[in-house]
Amino acid sequence: MSTLLIENVVKKYGTLEAVAGVNLRVEAGERLALLGHNGAGKTTLMRMVLGLTPISSGTINVLGDRPGSRNARTAIGFLPESVAFHGALTGREQLHHFSRLKSVPVQAADDLLERVGLNDAADRKIRTYSKGMRQRIGLAQALLGRPKLALLDEPTSGLDPISRHEFYDIVDDLAAGGTAVLLSSHALTDLETRTDRIAIMSNGQLVANDSLAALRQAARLPIRLDVTTSTQAADRVCAHLGGVRMNGQSVSITCQPDEKLAKLQQIMALGRDIQDLDVTTASLEELYRHYSGQQGADL
Ligand SMILES: Nc1ncnc2c1ncn2[C@@H]1O[C@H](COP(=O)(O)OP(=O)(O)OP(=O)(O)O)[C@@H](O)[C@H]1O
Ligand SMILES: [Mg+2]
Repeated sequence: MSTLLIENVVKKYGTLEAVAGVNLRVEAGERLALLGHNGAGKTTLMRMVLGLTPISSGTINVLGDRPGSRNARTAIGFLPESVAFHGALTGREQLHHFSRLKSVPVQAADDLLERVGLNDAADRKIRTYSKGMRQRIGLAQALLGRPKLALLDEPTSGLDPISRHEFYDIVDDLAAGGTAVLLSSHALTDLETRTDRIAIMSNGQLVANDSLAALRQAARLPIRLDVTTSTQAADRVCAHLGGVRMNGQSVSITCQPDEKLAKLQQIMALGRDIQDLDVTTASLEELYRHYSGQQGADL
């Protein structure tokens, strides 16, 4: 049984279809990134999984149960996109409070405070926390009781690069322990290596849903080969390979993925005229633009 199964789900707000017939599954131990422009429907989808927003049509199952049911609620850990806490409590008090609500031993709360790197700040009032520290408390709260399904809505917003890295280490641990992780994000850089599958929403619809490698293969976006030539050889190399002269000693060539090896052989055959070579495949950002068809749109 899938941990999360979403079938033909529609959410209408008046005439607006915020979610327009989405099918999506997340299995135990899988890390799925949900991408999409502002207003694409990511948060709405998560809120329906949580049972916070009624579904207009279609079905959602969390470990076989309906959203909002007791079983579904116990199975889910949720980090909302804007975390709000009682500022007068310390981080530890807040987390102990949540652990009592979830019937989780307070020791687990203390362990989590350490895991999210808040040990030193745990006994300070939350109102003195920075944005990233609040985000960490939110994450600790979502992970209390080792949920079977973690819904993390823009979990890395406000986190510095090292903290983002540490965040994904926590996600890896969770997934290794069998938790299904669904996280939405606009920060694409870390996702390339730290998730198993990428789903892209655009105007309420799912426009892509596969591993990065499969998305890359299906998109057939061109590959760029940047060649550094020896002095004086750039014109000759450029004429031979059919590339574009960039500056003094560099030539840029684009080709289709299935032409790559032949192009590389052609380049290597030029021997001493070639000093260096960089190969750049489509980045996640380029793939995102390709699939969401939003050339130039902000993420
Ligand atoms: N309570 C509501 N009433 C009316 N419209 C809503 C409501 N909640 C969301 N919407 C609309 O549904 C659409 C999807 O919004 P949603 O918050 O799911 O987007 P999102 O993908 O999470 O965007 P972001 O990246 O900005 O967080 C938007 O057009 C939004 O205006
Ligand atoms: Mg959102």
